[in-house]
Amino acid sequence: MTDADSQRTRVVVLISGTGSNLQALINAQQAGELPIELVAVISNRPEAKGLKRAERAGIPTCVVDHTQFDGRESFDQALQRKIDAYQPDLIVLAGFMRILTEAFTRHYEGRMLNIHPSLLPKYQGLNTHERALQAGDEEHGVTIHFVTAELDGGPIALQARVPVLPDDDATSLAQRVLVQEHRIYPLAVKWFAEGRLRMVDGRVLLNSEPLGPSGYPIDTHTS
Ligand code: GRF
Repeated sequence: MTDADSQRTRVVVLISGTGSNLQALINAQQAGELPIELVAVISNRPEAKGLKRAERAGIPTCVVDHTQFDGRESFDQALQRKIDAYQPDLIVLAGFMRILTEAFTRHYEGRMLNIHPSLLPKYQGLNTHERALQAGDEEHGVTIHFVTAELDGGPIALQARVPVLPDDDATSLAQRVLVQEHRIYPLAVKWFAEGRLRMVDGRVLLNSEPLGPSGYPIDTHTS
């Protein structure tokens, strides 16, 4: 291991499915844009496509299959043991579709990020694109937040907004949001790895300055 390796932020990514956000992180890391080491990808579903993406990139993978556990507590404990074996500095939830116990979220407080496809606090939970369309919203988007015990409720780090267009259906809107997801997740991970993005006393600091409740607004038109 070189000195540069030992200084890199160790990142474990948790997935449940396609893993396109994982791929965005792999691409940015391979392009030399992220001072991180992707030390493991863990899925709760054995068939998750993202596992193949990790294997192709030479990242160790493992599965902690939630269907093999009696309840949330025992699953989260097993998952925590797996994660901690990699001694990560940061845990990145990238399409990880599990509700986490309070003990688990507390263990990783300040070092676990999640991406959620809505402008939180709007539309916590599932079917965010359908709900934005049903509500007649003119704007929709994506949020990166630190994870706390409240589902999709932790302090917000970054948001990117997209317009809702007249002909949109949930698929086209999801696609427009996903483009932004792939831009802002690597950026959030970069800022965390550089020590610029932190959660302190339940607030998010960027470059030591507290952010407002909507986090740092990413300009989707010019950057
Ligand atoms: C993304 O919209 C993510 O925000 C959500 O799940 C979707 C799938 O992401 N929570 P991915 O392709 O598995 O990264």
